[in-house]
Amino acid sequence: MNPRTAQDWQHRYESGDTPWDTGEPDAELIRVLNEGWFGPCRCVEIGCGTGTNAVYLAQRGFEVTAFDISPLAIEKARSKAQAAGVAVHFLVGDVFDPPALGEPFPFVFDRGVYHSVRELGVDRFIAGLKKLTQPGSWYLVLMGNADDPNPLEKGPPRVSVRQIAEELEPHFALWQLRRYQFRAVQPDGQAFFPLAWSGLLRRR
Ligand SMILES: C[S@@+](CC[C@H](N)C(=O)[O-])C[C@H]1O[C@@H](n2cnc3c(N)ncnc32)[C@H](O)[C@@H]1O
Repeated sequence: MNPRTAQDWQHRYESGDTPWDTGEPDAELIRVLNEGWFGPCRCVEIGCGTGTNAVYLAQRGFEVTAFDISPLAIEKARSKAQAAGVAVHFLVGDVFDPPALGEPFPFVFDRGVYHSVRELGVDRFIAGLKKLTQPGSWYLVLMGNADDPNPLEKGPPRVSVRQIAEELEPHFALWQLRRYQFRAVQPDGQAFFPLAWSGLLRRR
């Protein structure tokens, strides 16, 4: 079953049942940065997990704040940043009620959070995102793809184009929507590649 509560997520990190936690920055994050849609800036990663992408953003010159609802994930993320020798402001926080983090961020990164929490309340999720952004802010969201032909039990929660259009598009204008494949890892360490969406949006 998909995790829902903070305890569920913490338990997934305690038990190591974390197929999304590949230890490698996501290829779509790298592509978007390389395309130069925006340069290094203050940014926030919501639901950052163990911090692989946040550390990568810091290595690319971004001033990174990153939060997650799981204290264990944040503990691991802090160690990762320390080992990499970069400064990232990691904290425990809930995207439905985000911590006060100062000025709105020009860029929000989300790998696997919208798709995980939308069924708990998309309006509350959008309200949280709006607290972190301002008109013109970029939002890169990576999510499971409802067109994935594989059984639902395998891989992340999935989102359809219609859901993206109905839930995100009224608040964030869609600049790019690309089909790609997440890299994920099975408990035995073998990689698998669920179908995904990469959405680059901009706050209206
Ligand atoms: C699929 S995992 C992806 C983690 C990370 N983004 C990555 O790619 O490795 C979803 C993450 O969202 C976090 N999460 C779930 N609900 C959350 C919430 N309400 N607020 C903040 N983080 C949340 C989980 O603890 C988990 O780390």
